[in-house]
Amino acid sequence: MSFKENFLWGGAIAANQAEGAYNVGGKGLSVADLKTVGGNGKERMFTPTIEEGVYYPSHNAIRFYDNYKEDIALFAEMGFKVLRTSINWSRIFPQGDEELPNEEGLKFYDNVIDELLAHGIEPLITLSHFEIPVGLMEKYNGFADRRTIDFYVNYATTVFERYKEKVKYWITFNELNFGTMSHGELTVLGIHPHGKYPLHKMPNDEKTRFQALHHTFIASAKAVIAGHKINPEFKIGCMIAHLSMYPLTPAPADVLQCKEYDLLVNKFVGDVQVKGEYPPLIKRYFESKGIEIQMEAGDLELLKSGVVDMYKFSYYMTLCVTTQNGAEASMGNLMGGAKNPYLESSEWGWQVDPTGLTFTLLDLYDRYQVPLMVVENGLGADDKVEENGAIHDDYRIEYMRKHVLAMKEAVEKGVDLIGYTMWGPIDLISAGTGEMKKRYGFIYVDMNNDGTGSLKRSKKDSFDWYKKVIASNGEEL
Ligand code: BG6
Repeated sequence: MSFKENFLWGGAIAANQAEGAYNVGGKGLSVADLKTVGGNGKERMFTPTIEEGVYYPSHNAIRFYDNYKEDIALFAEMGFKVLRTSINWSRIFPQGDEELPNEEGLKFYDNVIDELLAHGIEPLITLSHFEIPVGLMEKYNGFADRRTIDFYVNYATTVFERYKEKVKYWITFNELNFGTMSHGELTVLGIHPHGKYPLHKMPNDEKTRFQALHHTFIASAKAVIAGHKINPEFKIGCMIAHLSMYPLTPAPADVLQCKEYDLLVNKFVGDVQVKGEYPPLIKRYFESKGIEIQMEAGDLELLKSGVVDMYKFSYYMTLCVTTQNGAEASMGNLMGGAKNPYLESSEWGWQVDPTGLTFTLLDLYDRYQVPLMVVENGLGADDKVEENGAIHDDYRIEYMRKHVLAMKEAVEKGVDLIGYTMWGPIDLISAGTGEMKKRYGFIYVDMNNDGTGSLKRSKKDSFDWYKKVIASNGEEL
């Protein structure tokens, strides 16, 4: 058994980390445009307005807005079957609550999608990748207010209609399980996980967060229902940052804690979106905390009929859980944990664990039995450019080779895996730190953390490696 014949090989980027042109073509401000640069170990901040002299990485990003033709041609040269990207909501609805879309914003995505199709690359579109128009934050506190559901559905329906003949694969929200975490206030209020956001007037408490999360569930379900009406062939997925966890020790208390965290952090959101209902243990958790989710009549039915068609997830690292004090810490996307003594770490402290990917695929397929897709995976590293311009990123090749082998093992064991879009095929802005030097790409972009640089694109060694992987459908690694 190996990868399916039509396995979707490709890469994933996101609008605010790649496009730039933050105020071009009638685009409104997105929360991402108020986010400052951070660093390795230095948190990014939100400012209430754009401040003079402050660097906001999304404003120019890597100028995919102007360079998309060149970039897509390079993806095509590697043989991409799919490109995952997102639509920037505030390009289409600048304030968020307009009735009619901004035609100029749509034109840009017409061009990108047509360019992809001309190269035989299937677009996979995320509707909200850590993005929401600032207007919706200012007027409605984002998804804390139920009215935001309709604005989101109007946006989703607009782009579904526009691209119904061209786009088959969709994701409603990126890494929605951020909303379960204490620093995830913005996932639910404003769809952005890192940093404190000054514009909303709601408390960051569990009650508010879970209420807002409920609104995103309803928004996602309504979008799925609308999408399937527009084109029954649409394949719409959830997107979960699957933070696979192990108990640090076999102490039963560690094992139990790990089980409970896994449910709250990983499985809860996936269960709602894939099975269409709140898991019973989560309902009990809410009761024990005095949290009562306000629902409208029909909400539970909506969740049931708006289930997604497939489970999509990101996977970078694993973490350990322990009840014991004093364990050494490790880092990760969204959250860290206790350090696993058996694993190596990246320069940013994320623990590299290919076997964990096989484990995760088995775990997820066993639970959901729907097609799975890995829509983010990769290694952030500070690449060195040699004098002759070469970039020897053998560490990236090594990371990816092991993860592709791990997927293969899961497929051999019976998992229905339909595709793999590694994260950041072209270097782009880091979501966590805003840095440029945390690079994931096969394509190098000449740009520094402060935004200086020629933006010239060049190929790293991994470029030809991935081309070979795709051409051999994962056999030549
Ligand atoms: C995921 C996000 O959490 O991780 C991406 O969906 C992000 O937007 C990726 O870029 C890698 O994280 P980072 O912080 O290294 O950019």
